[in-house]
Amino acid sequence: MTAVDAAPAMIERLAADCPAAVTHVMNAQALRLPSDCFDLVASSFVIHILDDPAAGVAEAYRVLVPGGRFAFTGSSARQSNSHRPGKNPTIQTPSLGGLLDALFEEFAAYLHPNGSMGQVVDAADLLEEAGFVDLHKDRAEVAIAFPDNAMLWRWALSHGYRAFIEDLPEDRRREFHHRVMELPADDRVLRRTTGIWSGRKPG
Ligand SMILES: C[S@@+](CC[C@H](N)C(=O)[O-])C[C@H]1O[C@@H](n2cnc3c(N)ncnc32)[C@H](O)[C@@H]1O
Repeated sequence: MTAVDAAPAMIERLAADCPAAVTHVMNAQALRLPSDCFDLVASSFVIHILDDPAAGVAEAYRVLVPGGRFAFTGSSARQSNSHRPGKNPTIQTPSLGGLLDALFEEFAAYLHPNGSMGQVVDAADLLEEAGFVDLHKDRAEVAIAFPDNAMLWRWALSHGYRAFIEDLPEDRRREFHHRVMELPADDRVLRRTTGIWSGRKPG
C-alpha cells in the first residue's frame, strides 16, 4: 500500500482521536473572543501585514490565560538578512529563493505605499511592549521542490504572495509573471527560513 492509499484511513483515525476544530474569520487586531481563555496563540505570517501590528500582538496577549504563550512568524528588524542575494559574496550561483526574493524586491517599487508585503516589525519590541516575558527566538526552515516554473507560479498565487501580485499595476503584473516563468532552471528547490518569535504572558 502506498502512502497515498493509506492517507484516507490515517485522516479518519486522526479525526476520531482529535477534538473537532472550530474556525472563525475575524480581525486579528480586534478579536471577538473573551480575555484570558487560551493556553496558546499562534500566528503565521500575519502580524507584519496588519495595519497595526502592535494591536495584533496586544490582542494575542489579551486572550491568553496568564502563563500562556504567543508565537508568531513574519518579518522582524532583528531577523538576519544574510541569505539575501548580493549580501554573501561566497554565493556564485543565486538560489531559486534568492532570485525570487530579488524579483519581489524589484517589483515592490511598483506597489502603492504600505503595499501588501507588509512592514518590517521588530518582533522582540512588539512582544515586550505588549507585556510578554520569557522571549524566545527559534528558526524554521522549509525546502519546497518545484518541477517547473509554472508550478512555482501556481504556488505563488496560492498564499500570501498573491496579494502582492494582485496589487501590482496590470502591466507590471504581466511582466512579473513573465520574469517568474523565465527564472533559470538550475535550482528547483525553494528554501525558506523564518524566525519564530514567542513570549509568555506573566502569571
Ligand atoms: C501571508 S498570509 C499567511 C497565511 C497563513 N497564515 C500562512 O501562514 O500560510 C497573511 C494572511 O493574513 C490575513 N490577514 C490580513 N489582515 C488581517 C487581519 N486584519 N486580521 C486577520 N487576518 C488578516 C490575510 O487574509 C492572509 O490570509
